[in-house]
Parts: sequence; C-alpha cells; structure tokens
Amino acid sequence: MLGTAFLLLNGLLLLLLLYTTRRRNKNEPPLDKGSIPWLGHAFEFLKDPGKFLARMKDKHGDIFTFRLAGIYVTVLLDPNSFDGVLNDDTNSLDFNSRRGQLLKRIFNLQLPGDYPTTEKEWMKQHFLGVKQLQLSSSMTRHLSDVMLKSFEPRSSSQWREDGLFELCYSLLFRAGYLTLFERKDNVDAVYGEFRKFDDLITKLAQGSLKREERRVVATSQDRLWDLLYSGRVKGSWQQSYVQFLQEMGVDADMQKKAQLLQLWNTQCNAGPAAFWVLGFLLTHPEAMEVVKSEIRGLSSLQDTSLQRRPLSQLEAKSTPVFDSVLSETLRLTAAVMINREVVKDKILRMADGKEYHLRRGDRVCLFPFLSPQMDPQIHEEPQMFKYDRFLNEDKTVKKEFYKDEKKLKYFTLPWGAGKSICVGKEFALKAIKQFVFLFLTHFDLELCSPNDKLPPVNPSRFGFGMLQPDGDLRVKFRLKTMQHEM
Ligand code: HEM
Repeated sequence: MLGTAFLLLNGLLLLLLLYTTRRRNKNEPPLDKGSIPWLGHAFEFLKDPGKFLARMKDKHGDIFTFRLAGIYVTVLLDPNSFDGVLNDDTNSLDFNSRRGQLLKRIFNLQLPGDYPTTEKEWMKQHFLGVKQLQLSSSMTRHLSDVMLKSFEPRSSSQWREDGLFELCYSLLFRAGYLTLFERKDNVDAVYGEFRKFDDLITKLAQGSLKREERRVVATSQDRLWDLLYSGRVKGSWQQSYVQFLQEMGVDADMQKKAQLLQLWNTQCNAGPAAFWVLGFLLTHPEAMEVVKSEIRGLSSLQDTSLQRRPLSQLEAKSTPVFDSVLSETLRLTAAVMINREVVKDKILRMADGKEYHLRRGDRVCLFPFLSPQMDPQIHEEPQMFKYDRFLNEDKTVKKEFYKDEKKLKYFTLPWGAGKSICVGKEFALKAIKQFVFLFLTHFDLELCSPNDKLPPVNPSRFGFGMLQPDGDLRVKFRLKTMQHEM
C-alpha cells in the first residue's frame, strides 16, 4: 500500500517536472523561468508588475519570455516591432480568449462568441461621429451642473477642502453616469458602490481577494447589478446598449452583468486621468502658469458663468500647451497591458531584422508604459513631468520621436492599440479637457500645503488602464468671483 503511494507520488512529481521543464529553443526569446516550480515569477509580477518587468528589461532587453503560474509570457518592449503583434496578419494571435477569461472572472460574464466583434461595432457607432458629439455636449452640461452642485448650499466665496483624487473621480463619474445612464435618482449610490468595487478589481482579477474583501466585492456587485438594471431611461445610451444585448440573444442575467462591465469601461479612466493632470499642474507652478496663460488667450472663455456653459466653443480652439500637458500626463500614468494568446506558432520579425519563434499556447504582452512611454532612449529623463515634451519650438504639437535613429510610429500608447484600442478616446479627451478648463476658469484651486508632492502610484494598478495614486493630494478650492481673476 505504502509502496504504491510512493510510486504514485514519484510519478506525479516526474510529470510535474516534465511539465514545468522548458528549455529555450533556437530562435526563441531569452527564457526566464524563475526559481519556483510552476509559479515561476508569479509573486514578484503580481506584487508590482511595473517594477518586475523593468527588472526583466534590464536583464534581457526588449524581448524575453517569463513564467507566470504555468503560463509562458513573451514580453515585447521594442515599439518599432509592435506591429508584428498589433497588426498580426497570420491569425496566430488571439485577443478574445484572454478577454473572455477576464470578463468571466471579474464580471461573472459569459457572452456569445461573436459578441466582441459586434460590440466593438456598436460602440463605434455611439462613441464616434454625430452620436459622440451629442454625448460630449451632454457631458459638458452635466459637468457644469455637478461642479456647481458640489458647492451647494455653501456660499461661493467659502474655501472647501478635499482630496484631489476623490474630487476628480467623483465629479467626472457623476457627469459621465448622468450622460450615459441618465439616472439622477441613484447616482450617489452607484458611485459609492462603484468605488468599493473598483478599489478591489485588481485583486479580483488576480484571484487574490481575502475573505472579507470577497464579501465586499460580492455585495457591491449585487447592488450595482440591481441599481443599474432597474429603472432604465428610454432613449439613453444605456437603454440602447440593453437593446443591443437583447438583439444578440443575451439572457436577462447576463444583460444585468454586462451593464456593470460597461459602467467600469466608461468610468474608470477619465476621473483618475483628470486627477493626474491637475495634480501635475498644481505641483509644477511653471506648467500651471503657461496653461492658464493659454486659457486667458481664449477670449470666448472669459467672463462667462458656469450656468451659461461656454465650453462648446472650446473644441474649436487650438490649445497646444494643454494638449502637451495631457499627453505628458498620460505618458506618465496610463499603463495598459496589451495581451494576445498565441493560437498558432508564429515567427515574430523585429525591426532590427532578428526573428523570434513564438510558441502556440504562450501569451504575448506589450507594456507600452515601460517602452515607449518610460524608455530613456525615446523620452529624455522619462520619470520627469515636462509640460512641453509634446511641443515643438514653434508651439505646434510634437509628433516625431526616435529610437535607434528610427522614427517611431508608437511613441506613447495611453489608449491601447490594435483590436482593443479605446473607443471612447475622443469623448474622453473632450471630457477631461472641459473638466480641467472649467476648474481653472471658474474655481480658485490650491494645494492645502504648498510643499505637498503627488502621492506615489498604487503598483497594483499596472495593466489596468489609468494608474491610481496610493493616497491623495489635499486641495482647497472655491468658486471664483469677479474679484478673483485667474
Ligand atoms: C483617460 C481616459 C481613458 C483612457 C486612458 C482609456 C484607455 C483605454 C484602454 C487602454 C482600453 C483598452 C483596454 C484593454 O485593452 O484591456 C480602453 C477600452 C475601452 N474604453 Fe477607454 N479609456 C479612457 C476613457 C474612456 C471613456 C471616457 C470611455 C467612454 C465613455 C471609454 C470607453 C472604452 C470602452 C467602451 C472600452 C472597451 C472597448 C472594447 O470593448 O474593446 N474609455 N480604454
């Protein structure tokens, strides 16, 4: 009996060894399995993906394969070679299976096989062209309203204090929710539950929630499903999305869950992005001054009250300094990971002419935050915020960046790329710009302590779009009166 158990155990160990023993073949990227069998580098990666991948880049260069809990991930960090992955024309790389796994794990969602492609088309109809213009104009209206409302019933000259992250997230979320879901009655409840869910979403995706956190996530998911499902407004973007799901044959339970996915997709990035923009401006007075001076030059924005909503004209104005500040902010704080499953063996041709064999069953990952965005060969002193990094000397938008003397097609990628690129980019850009301009033209905004610095980033958010701060930045603000000039 004991002998059989011993043999069985030995057999299992041998199988495990065989399964986990992988050697680097000729033409494959450098292989780094880590020291822990099967898990490989899982602990270090999950703790701080940004730091881990930077260490691997220093060790191996622009392409390498590492082991992550039984999966082999090839990381490609040469932007000049990205097109081999982003525009793979050999049908060797698949985007949907990984996305499907994440949707199941995070949102309990299982959608029909043709959903991703059909949904993308549906989203484009709503976030591009005329519909996008309508949504953006509704967003402007709601932004003015929620910003004014945040002062009631206080007198306008009174200073109010808050955390800048909390302030930006809550105002942009509220305006975004009112624009897309058009529900005034439950916006506060939805925001409260959403933040609890969003705070734990990275742990949920990694499967590392503690027992109490699991309970919090389950409760806020339940509440959000109910809050979003009941009382939909006819003619709203939300109602139109539900109709689209019904036409696809998605059942009522999945319709409910898909709405939380869209709430997260549409609301999780703009608030954090606005926080970093205002945060960098407040901690870099020179940049704040040039942005304010650019705004002062837009005469139509002067002497207007929030109620009169002047900002529709903003879109027609050229604001290269602000645009550079926004690009620079996103370069430093947008950190998406672009993942593909290798479904067929593939030869990846690099820009320098080398060829690498990618194995079927592995995963390929681009992490544009590390390169191009933080690559010192592309962006000098990449850790520094330089408001004019994306400006030419003649104050036009700078679009030419080089690596190894080659002009780059991809020099910053905050919106992702390829099949998973953000469909809400135009809408988001306008919303953030309007929010920041509204704040600077209609409010006095100052740091509570002039020497305060921006908080560090929360490392668990690497790979999830916009980074979030670990902590907050205390600010005070009040409505401007005629006496308080900008
Ligand atoms: C600074 C703000 C934003 C940034 C940096 C951003 C970035 C991104 C990125 C990187 C992705 C791809 C995610 C992935 O591959 O896993 C994405 C997807 C998406 N974004 Fe954005 N986003 C922003 C704001 C918005 C806004 C305001 C909306 C809409 C109101 C929006 C709508 C979407 C949608 C619907 C998707 C999913 C697209 C799909 O189904 O394939 N985004 N976004």
